[in-house]
Amino acid sequence: MNSIQITHAKHSKLKSTDFKNLGFGKFFSDHMLICDYKFGVWGAPEIIPFEAISLMPSSKIFHYGQSIFEGMKAYKDKNSNTWLFRPDENFKRLNKSAERLAIPQLPKNIFFEGLIKLLNIDNDWIPSAEGSSLYIRPIIFATGEGFHASPADAYRFMIATAPSGPYFSGKVKVLIEETYSRSANGGVGFAKAGGNYAGQFYPTQLAIKKGYNQVIWTDDNTHEYIEEAGAMNIFIRINDTLITGPTSDRILDGVTRKSIIQIAKNEGINLEVRKFKVSEVIEASNNGSLKEMFGTGTAAVISPISAYGYRGKDYILPKNKDSYATRLKKIIIDIQTNKSEDSYKWRFKVC
Ligand code: COI
Repeated sequence: MNSIQITHAKHSKLKSTDFKNLGFGKFFSDHMLICDYKFGVWGAPEIIPFEAISLMPSSKIFHYGQSIFEGMKAYKDKNSNTWLFRPDENFKRLNKSAERLAIPQLPKNIFFEGLIKLLNIDNDWIPSAEGSSLYIRPIIFATGEGFHASPADAYRFMIATAPSGPYFSGKVKVLIEETYSRSANGGVGFAKAGGNYAGQFYPTQLAIKKGYNQVIWTDDNTHEYIEEAGAMNIFIRINDTLITGPTSDRILDGVTRKSIIQIAKNEGINLEVRKFKVSEVIEASNNGSLKEMFGTGTAAVISPISAYGYRGKDYILPKNKDSYATRLKKIIIDIQTNKSEDSYKWRFKVC
């Protein structure tokens, strides 16, 4: 790959960005990476100012939704070193999503060299306050034109970044969904396709109107099994056993999920990766053995669920002194932010 061409932003937004009130994904750093695929090959990546892009109305992204993304974070440690967490997993999943959406595979050097250069250029945008990071959005979408319902012949890979605080600001109260489905067997549920999230918005709006803030997705066939929580993977704790569902073509293979599974096992926590039913959760709530429920994801890290609703009734999760969510969250964040030994070799030093 030739060296990446860089055009610096004329005016940095850094000083006018309120790092004390970042929220999540609301402010964007000065630069972005772009790389176009045309005539069967990926071209040279470029770093340019973060700005509007121009697309033809006939670009297939607008018509057939060929679009995938990833979610990653860059962390600053106390010595101002910059770290990524398991970036290889995001790269592999991006290409897995690409395959399912008939998008051409992205070469590894474009992803890594582009990302590392971008993080070097916008390094001052990586917040160091506890709970904050630079959220990274790699995306690939169809720029090729035509109304014919077939894969586009041109694509754009981009990386945009946003200094961010926590994804959730309050309690997470979820509604177990039995009408709508997030994914189906043979579908695209395992992929990080934009459309997977668009399809969740309407059922989530309905849940929000009822006083919840996320939906718990159940399997599309029977609605008996719990699969995901909003845009997160889900774990439950019954007595001292942590349970999460197996990945499948309906469930996202979350990087945080698989890391938490490994950490929990290493911590000696009894962990079961198996399907679990709504009825098992209700029964455990009723007999007092349901201790915790939490979602995992790059953006959300580990988000404890305070209550869930099912068929018109709310079930409140108890407060635990020995919360697994709190314990596992500290372990993973300490690894991510270089506060602890990384025996798993998950940390990746950027600069
Ligand atoms: C992430 O956790 O990084 C995701 O991509 C989920 C998104 C809805 C914020």
